[in-house]
Amino acid sequence: MSILDETFQLNNGNQIPKVAFGTWRLKDGDEAYQAVAAALKIGYRHIDTAFHYFNEPSVGQAIKDSGIKREDIFLTTKLPAEIKNHDDILKNFQESLDRLQTDYVDLYLIHAPWPWADINLDYRYDGANREAWQAMEEIYKSGRAKAIGVSNFDVHDLKNIQQIWSVKPAVNQIEFYVGWTQPKIAAYTKSLDIQLEAYSPLATGGLATQPDIQKIAEKYQVSVPRVALKYVLQKNVLPLPRATKAEHVKSNAELDFEISAADMEVLDKLPDTGQARHNVTMG
Ligand SMILES: NC(=O)c1ccc[n+]([C@@H]2O[C@H](COP(=O)([O-])OP(=O)(O)OC[C@H]3O[C@@H](n4cnc5c(N)ncnc54)[C@H](OP(=O)(O)O)[C@@H]3O)[C@@H](O)[C@H]2O)c1
Repeated sequence: MSILDETFQLNNGNQIPKVAFGTWRLKDGDEAYQAVAAALKIGYRHIDTAFHYFNEPSVGQAIKDSGIKREDIFLTTKLPAEIKNHDDILKNFQESLDRLQTDYVDLYLIHAPWPWADINLDYRYDGANREAWQAMEEIYKSGRAKAIGVSNFDVHDLKNIQQIWSVKPAVNQIEFYVGWTQPKIAAYTKSLDIQLEAYSPLATGGLATQPDIQKIAEKYQVSVPRVALKYVLQKNVLPLPRATKAEHVKSNAELDFEISAADMEVLDKLPDTGQARHNVTMG
């Protein structure tokens, strides 16, 4: 069985395919359409998009044209980080459904606890996030999102909505790759039985030629990205790789090997070479 057919169970009992296809930076139109169509053809059944990727129309069209039954595809989209009030959330959610040409999503996430412009400001949106979570619960209870969750939430942000939630988030999607595994929020998320998802599992491409991972990759006779993705999965974290090159899309799903415990320890100790700009509240 391919990894693309395997699932994790979410805390509401729903199944979520263990590897997703990421769509950030894929331009609406031919680029996003072709990439998603190719991923579905190869066997990916979990697609991760967001209002803010501005490609929901092409993602929805590719899903529709694939001929695959809607219920056989797990589709995630995200609420814009700037939008925190009840009425605007419900309106935005419906607009996402319309653009995706579907009447439900499998997972709806709050994209971030802070508006993007405030990403590194030492300011919290606690009241706004509690209001947003209540609207997310309303959407969940309407059945139009089969699961709800958060993204970029740190321990403080999760504890903040924990005060009021009647539905626990099913997922927390955070930046997570070899060298940047955010131990505090990762452990807290797992302790609540919330599925951790790894965004930028290849450090937005920065890990593709990482020399320390290369040594391990040679041992297993696989590519560096395959080691990086398998590392994430062996931590029970769900990777969301993005790729436009067909050979990348295909090889990223060839993960039928096991990294030894000793090599996992070596990978655990590697420094962050991703050169990404991290959110300062995480860690
Ligand atoms: N929630 C959030 O705030 C958030 C933030 C960032 C990302 N995300 C999600 O996470 C997804 C993935 O993160 P990301 O977009 O930063 O990128 P990523 O998956 O970490 O890396 C993508 C880059 O790696 C390259 N690549 C992929 N497979 C490869 C392979 N086998 N060999 C060599 N190079 C390879 C791709 O090149 P080619 O295109 O040339 O194939 C692309 O340049 C996003 O698309 C999005 O869905 C969420």
